Amino acid sequence: MDIQGWLKEQMVSAAAYDADALIASFLDQMGKGLAGDASSLAMIPAYVDADTRFPGGKPVAVIDAGGTNLRICLAHFNEDGRIDLSGFSKQAMPGRDREITAAEFYNVLADGLEPLASEFENIGFCFSYPATILPDLDGRLLHWTKEIKIPELVGRHIGAGLLGVLEDRGISGKRVVVLNDTVAALLAGTAQGRVFNASSYIGFILGTGTNTAYVERNENIGKLDGYLESGTQVINVESGGFTAFKRGPFDVQLDEESENPGAHVFEKAISGVYMGPLTLVALQALAQKELFSTSGNAALSVMNDLSTIHIDNLAADNGRDVGVLGIGVFTDADRETMKTVFSSVVGRAALFTAVNIAASVVKSGAGTDPDRPVCVNIDGSTYYKTNGLADKVQEHLGALLEARGLHIRCIHVEDAPVAGAAIAGLTAFSP
Ligand code: BGC
Repeated sequence: MDIQGWLKEQMVSAAAYDADALIASFLDQMGKGLAGDASSLAMIPAYVDADTRFPGGKPVAVIDAGGTNLRICLAHFNEDGRIDLSGFSKQAMPGRDREITAAEFYNVLADGLEPLASEFENIGFCFSYPATILPDLDGRLLHWTKEIKIPELVGRHIGAGLLGVLEDRGISGKRVVVLNDTVAALLAGTAQGRVFNASSYIGFILGTGTNTAYVERNENIGKLDGYLESGTQVINVESGGFTAFKRGPFDVQLDEESENPGAHVFEKAISGVYMGPLTLVALQALAQKELFSTSGNAALSVMNDLSTIHIDNLAADNGRDVGVLGIGVFTDADRETMKTVFSSVVGRAALFTAVNIAASVVKSGAGTDPDRPVCVNIDGSTYYKTNGLADKVQEHLGALLEARGLHIRCIHVEDAPVAGAAIAGLTAFSP
């Protein structure tokens, strides 16, 4: 059987897509989202600008509620602009393994902040989920992604809820700025970008989830009627929500079985929490066609999960844990087929990622001068760790941007969500 051809027919292959048409759809959806028209891209104004200079000295509390982990610490910038972290606590993101209440969630946050309470006034809260940001810099959760289950918090003001729980514990006078992790990544890249004279900034994340932030002129944000006509601000694209691409039957099946059917379907094609499961759906379809060994077909048909890490370790042949994929029911030929399928899933994810970044560069209007590239801070373990993904993304990006005469420089900043949240916490309430 021609597996590559079959994967293309099922739309789990880069070869099934036209990158230029996808970029055009992305730009169309971005424009509609900014105007307040119906769009799969939320295009959320962050009410922060990228040319923020941050004052050293004062410590700020940072909460980093990511897809996998929740981290709380105290951050301050030392004189050479480097960030020092202390009072660090880290645990699995609450609500990931089981459904919890809003009170449980806030108590975990308050437990982490309470011992640090005498040392900070402001809290930079990096919240890696879609939230409308309000002019007072609080965030209202639109919906959960990445399979998190804290339904009570949907529609609630995340920062105000936290301050309320702190006050119940006698901790008052604190202020909180809620920002998306891509906005934090963008801010965290500005120090490096300034050094090479960047013409604009992008924060892109491909980890458990995916998303992009870029800088937009206020005059283009039609939905902020009456908002500033001059100046710029960061926009959280919520690019994982993009729907204007053709999905295949496996995408549809995976979406239907997820916690949030119909939502964030682009994310379900490319991010860390979904690439393994998507591969499994494709492998099970092949098992129905009896493409594997008899025992392999049987084993695949009863599997109900495949972690991206296991299939990625198999593809990379790196000697790390491959879970059940390593057991004797699968032959080496079975494993080769698994690698082919996963590589096709990754190949499509790489094309989609490049399209996403390229569209944001085009929309920024910057990067036309090679001496002033757009600074793209890329964060997320899926981007850096998935076998072959980053190289493929860069290859596609190179071609897509060259054809448009645009220039970028990609960077990676250690602990970007924490650094960006600290910058926001330090600067957001300054006059
Ligand atoms: C969320 C985004 C977030 C991204 C990366 C997505 O699931 O909707 O808000 O930026 O993951 O963490």
